[in-house]
Amino acid sequence: MEHVIADPVGTRHVVVTGAGGQLGAALLEAYPGARGLARADWDVALPPPALGEVGLVLHAAAWTDVDGAERDPQDAAAVNVGGTQHAAELGAPLVTFSTDYVFDGTKRTPYVESDPPSPQSVYGRTKLHAEAAAGDEAWIVRTSWLFGWTSTNFVRTMLRLGAERDEVSVVDDQRGSPTFVGHLAAATHELTALPYGVWHVAADGDCTWAEFAEAIFEEAGLDCRVRRISTEELGRPAPRPAYSVLRSERQGAPQLPHWRDGLRECLARLR
Ligand SMILES: NC(=O)c1ccc[n+]([C@@H]2O[C@H](COP(=O)([O-])OP(=O)(O)OC[C@H]3O[C@@H](n4cnc5c(N)ncnc54)[C@H](OP(=O)(O)O)[C@@H]3O)[C@@H](O)[C@H]2O)c1
Repeated sequence: MEHVIADPVGTRHVVVTGAGGQLGAALLEAYPGARGLARADWDVALPPPALGEVGLVLHAAAWTDVDGAERDPQDAAAVNVGGTQHAAELGAPLVTFSTDYVFDGTKRTPYVESDPPSPQSVYGRTKLHAEAAAGDEAWIVRTSWLFGWTSTNFVRTMLRLGAERDEVSVVDDQRGSPTFVGHLAAATHELTALPYGVWHVAADGDCTWAEFAEAIFEEAGLDCRVRRISTEELGRPAPRPAYSVLRSERQGAPQLPHWRDGLRECLARLR
């Protein structure tokens, strides 16, 4: 069911789950006065605590260890599927975040909302089931390759490695759109004035992880070479889509800045 509502809640009575994560941190900045819940406040695999009046739930808590999910599929599902269902049980409109990994990556043009999902990994399957668990009063935001100024992410890892080493090996056969959490959090405001349902919201432009690493070193002024390797050479347990650029085919979809602008903003926060 789709239903248009104007943003009726402002930032009062907004609950942010996953407040200790990188997107959670950005959402708390974008929604001043929102109540942030970290894992210690609510393990989302368990039913929700009594939270009083809630006007909007921004559900950023998730099992995001893609390789770890292959080893522990039940716990990953308990957090991702069970957690989303529990967030919906709070009884308020819900924004929940999904992933480009619901697609198999065989396309070579951007994935839009009407493309059939076909997840190849346990993580991708749990996130697809989580979409179904979100209920009817939900905006399901599929996004990709998130990075921000907190938590563990590719940008922070590359900054550390780039300062320690002369060369890093990075995969060059996966293409996507690295999305800055600050831009995604700002777009969440726009989204809640739009109809419920699935929305693709990712940065403009695309690149491979190796190209992204080169851009990070260039923007940060680090003298580190990137050795381009294949996914097979890296040998991670979970399969990743070779191509997972997301674009929206829906009218009025929020448009995010280019990933390189996001990278510059993120680096400015880290200096
Ligand atoms: N990262 C990406 O590249 C990416 C791409 C596309 C979509 N997404 C989606 O975007 C959303 C936000 O991801 P993110 O990058 O901000 O991830 P993140 O930095 O890993 O944050 C996730 C947060 O969820 C918390 N969490 C994990 N299990 C929990 C539980 N059982 N109960 C309560 N909290 C729990 C984590 O707590 P701990 O710190 O204690 O583990 C962490 O603070 C997720 O839905 C993710 O699937 C992410």
